[in-house]
Amino acid sequence: MLRSRRLLFLLILLAIFATSVYLLRNQDSFEELPGLSNPLHDFTNPLRGHHAHEENPPLLPQRSLTHPIHRLITDAESTFQTVRARQSRSLADAVAEYRRRYKVPPPPHFDKWYNFAKRRGVELIDEYDTIYHALLPFWSLKPSVIRERTREAIGFDNALIAVMIRNGKVVKMDGGGEMYQWHRDATPVMLGNFIKYLPDMDLAFNIHDEPRVVVQADSLARHVSAGRKNMTLAYNSPSPRNSFSKRPSDLGDGMRIKDYRTTRFNKFAHQPTWSNSKLSCPLTSPARGCIDSDCHVNITAYSDQPLGFIRNTTAFSDICNSPSLEHIRLLRPPQRLRLSSFQDILYPSPWYYMDRVKYEPERDMPWAEKNATMYWRGSTTGGFSRDGGWRRQHRQQFLMKIQPQATSQILQYTPNTTSSTPEIGAWEVHSTPMTPYSKYFDIKFTFIGQCDPGDCDAQREYFGTTDPVNMFDAFQSRYLLDIDGNAFSGRYHAWLQSNSLVYKLAVFREWHDEWLKAWVHYVPLGLRGEEYVESVRYFEEEEGGQQEAKRIAKESKGWAEKVLRKEDLEVWYFRLLLEYGRLVDDEREDIGFGI
Ligand SMILES: *[C@@H]1O[C@H](CO)[C@@H](O)[C@H](O)[C@H]1NC(C)=O
Ligand SMILES: *[C@@H]1O[C@H](CO)[C@@H](O)[C@H](O)[C@H]1NC(C)=O
Ligand SMILES: *[C@@H]1O[C@H](CO)[C@@H](O)[C@H](O)[C@H]1NC(C)=O
Ligand SMILES: *[C@@H]1O[C@H](CO)[C@@H](O)[C@H](O)[C@H]1NC(C)=O
Ligand SMILES: *[C@@H]1O[C@H](CO)[C@@H](O)[C@H](O)[C@H]1NC(C)=O
Repeated sequence: MLRSRRLLFLLILLAIFATSVYLLRNQDSFEELPGLSNPLHDFTNPLRGHHAHEENPPLLPQRSLTHPIHRLITDAESTFQTVRARQSRSLADAVAEYRRRYKVPPPPHFDKWYNFAKRRGVELIDEYDTIYHALLPFWSLKPSVIRERTREAIGFDNALIAVMIRNGKVVKMDGGGEMYQWHRDATPVMLGNFIKYLPDMDLAFNIHDEPRVVVQADSLARHVSAGRKNMTLAYNSPSPRNSFSKRPSDLGDGMRIKDYRTTRFNKFAHQPTWSNSKLSCPLTSPARGCIDSDCHVNITAYSDQPLGFIRNTTAFSDICNSPSLEHIRLLRPPQRLRLSSFQDILYPSPWYYMDRVKYEPERDMPWAEKNATMYWRGSTTGGFSRDGGWRRQHRQQFLMKIQPQATSQILQYTPNTTSSTPEIGAWEVHSTPMTPYSKYFDIKFTFIGQCDPGDCDAQREYFGTTDPVNMFDAFQSRYLLDIDGNAFSGRYHAWLQSNSLVYKLAVFREWHDEWLKAWVHYVPLGLRGEEYVESVRYFEEEEGGQQEAKRIAKESKGWAEKVLRKEDLEVWYFRLLLEYGRLVDDEREDIGFGI
């Protein structure tokens, strides 16, 4: 317990670029909360091709209707429509839904939050499970312990930004250095519209790109179950008080930050981090269970389709399912990934709030005028390459898969000649030369770096480089790729808002993941890459794909304009901080919002 407490000491680091944390994976599956898991629709029926919400459902040929991508799209679409349709329509509904999901009353001022969200036209008023999962283990700790550890964390040079809130104002901010001035500038602005409802508290924000808090699996499981028990105490409170308690005496007036002489953070610069990253994975998971160095990803966890098309992005981005991540060096520092196994609390990135990358519609063009290519430009970041290690890095692997001389896999339709209705057939995997398909890929490095000289030369020879480009050149392509690197790909929001279709290859999670759905708003890609070629070929060459690509591009644009606004960020942030304010309130069992 002592050890896990020490680790938990590191709490409350709000990972800087919107890290999403689904802690609970195996210990805490949503199956226990009735009705929460999305109904998995009948995806075995190939004839489901119609959408009730479409005006004129297009009639697609059999071959399109049976294609795995078509099925994934229709299933995701219908799940998403179900989620939209079931959103609460009144404060009373929202409170009931909250209590049903989390077995605890909403935090104080939930009515203020609800009105705030409604006024800003938030689309999904009930979907904030990410916050619940991130905070749950901390409920096992006394509020005073959490406060003390926060003070300790910000009282030492731990690369954290400290933000002190007193009487509804930010009274002090410190830490992070000059480079993060923009972060400090943005924080009070982001909080400005709701800070008057927040209790006095100290917050610590992680300035590093990578998450930093990880708890061993067995300890984590204990904290989660104790946390849930403590939450139940609050749930059973007969009539919770709708206000936060007075500032506790240990909190001070926020005018100065007490110095601490010791820190419990470890430094991992230029060391492999994989063995620490997987600490919180259960012993039975593939990541921990892999003993020799030749373990493979178990794709059945996230895919039930040929070529490994991703059905479940949560399972895919759970690094505990991926013993092979070590070998593709996704986790070698310097890294900036926000991973499933970490316990950092996620918050909306000021990067997005400050419009550091902005979509400019006048630089975009209609779908029909775009080139039929998948576009990506970037550098060889994602790990330092030595001794040919680049061959195992994920960006390089992507490029290798689509080289003209490579062999690729696609699906081919084979009509069933013995069937009485001969047009019924099946899609089968075929290996083929890449030549006829390489025209679809406009994917190039603009810079080769993070490598020993020999490795850099080898990569230059193998891939070549092209001149750096204006990011808006991308809009000439129908298909835009977004890949994890170790540099923040802040382009994602702008890509979604464009008239192009977005593909995302990512194991990290962000605050908005709950609101953006794979196969409805973007096409998810895996790390193995067998599906890369088919997932462009289908959209270009199959009748169903042509319609769907255009529609998804349009839907993602419309949806991004509705859910990725500054208003949405504020609403998410407001709710997180109300929850956090209750978590650190000494009377958290007795406070909350009730009707
Ligand atoms: C919460 O749970 C832990 C562990 O079960 C317990 O020690 C603690 O007293 C509980 N209550 C509060 C208020 O933290
Ligand atoms: C892969 O995972 C599934 C469940 O997700 C399990 O039933 C199966 O046995 C696993 N396969 C291997 C080879 O580990
Ligand atoms: C997706 O995977 C997660 C984690 O493995 C699991 O808890 C969840 O039930 C899965 N969702 C669906 C719809 O199968
Ligand atoms: C072809 O159709 C027949 C009759 O409908 C069926 O029994 C058989 O399994 C099908 N074959 C394939 C490869 O789907
Ligand atoms: C399409 O691609 C061609 C050749 O690659 C290029 O010259 C042209 O500018 C592109 N057109 C658009 C609209 O992007």
